[in-house]
Amino acid sequence: MGYQLSDISQLLAEGTKAFKDAASAEQLEELRRHYLGGKGVAKAILGGVKDVPKEQRGEFGKAANLLNKQLEEAYAQAKARLGDAKPAGPGIDLTKPGLRREIGHQHIISQTVREIVDIFNRIGFAEVEGPEVEDEAHNFDALNIPPGHPARNELDNFYLRVTGPDWEGKPVPLLLRSQTSTIQIRTMEQRQPPVRVIAPGRVYRPDTVDATHHFMFHQIEGLAVEEGLTFGDLRSVLELFVREYFGASAKMRLRPHYFPFTEVSAEVDISAEMFSHLKKPWLEILGCGMVHPNVLKAVGYDPEKYTGFAFGMGVERIAMLKHGIPDIRHFTANDLRFLRQF
Ligand code: DAH
Repeated sequence: MGYQLSDISQLLAEGTKAFKDAASAEQLEELRRHYLGGKGVAKAILGGVKDVPKEQRGEFGKAANLLNKQLEEAYAQAKARLGDAKPAGPGIDLTKPGLRREIGHQHIISQTVREIVDIFNRIGFAEVEGPEVEDEAHNFDALNIPPGHPARNELDNFYLRVTGPDWEGKPVPLLLRSQTSTIQIRTMEQRQPPVRVIAPGRVYRPDTVDATHHFMFHQIEGLAVEEGLTFGDLRSVLELFVREYFGASAKMRLRPHYFPFTEVSAEVDISAEMFSHLKKPWLEILGCGMVHPNVLKAVGYDPEKYTGFAFGMGVERIAMLKHGIPDIRHFTANDLRFLRQF
């Protein structure tokens, strides 16, 4: 290559200055490759020592070694100064707002259940739950739904393949409960009057799924039993609920109906400003009635002493009405575009 001694001193001055001025880890790495790398300047000079005429070789060799050593030192110092810090990657903009962790919220069905249960909590109804897998005694018999009743039809219920022990340990057919009215029975088996409970839960029916039917949905059941309860008490409790939930100007009416577990029985329709767009003056929202004496007897309550009222409502239907949701399948589709609206 033909380096001269004078080249070496010039390279030394130039190289040490360059290492000293290096402003970033990237730039330093580039300098390291240029001066100290396998094909770098220092290696080339050291490699050229053997070609230098004999009489100058000693001096040239010394100078070449010194150059190598001093450049190494200059590099080490620059490296210590700049640190090992990885260069900031391209495209990182420290002034940008950070990534926000999205905070989830309750499903609209859970919200609806909470709002309704809260209203009843405020007037003394305690929240209770019951099992989703039930026996026929709780889903039907004790609710005055006798064998042979169409509601017990195998094709209208999710009967399980397994049987379960009843309270005597006998194997009995099991099914997914078709109504939360089962919780009336479970509650009265465990408590003595006065009883005031509100019981939300899932129920199951093998209905063909369409915009208003699903094989799984939610109900909220209410029950009050004590001495002297009347239909007037039922009415005032429901009126309070309707005004709290659907707005102060909401009206309700009772329509005679039939349920096996209540006598008398009624359906409740409401009329509220929030539904004026539906163009139906009255919307049916729940079933209710005075607890049938046979139901009280089934749990060992004395129907001569106690009376009670009960009611049950479908949560999906109420949420659909209130929020203008057109299809029950939205609730189970887990589509965030739907869920985020509530
Ligand atoms: N269990 C009824 C149903 O599934 C709803 C119902 C009606 C519940 C009247 C009640 C009631 O407690 O008194 O359709």
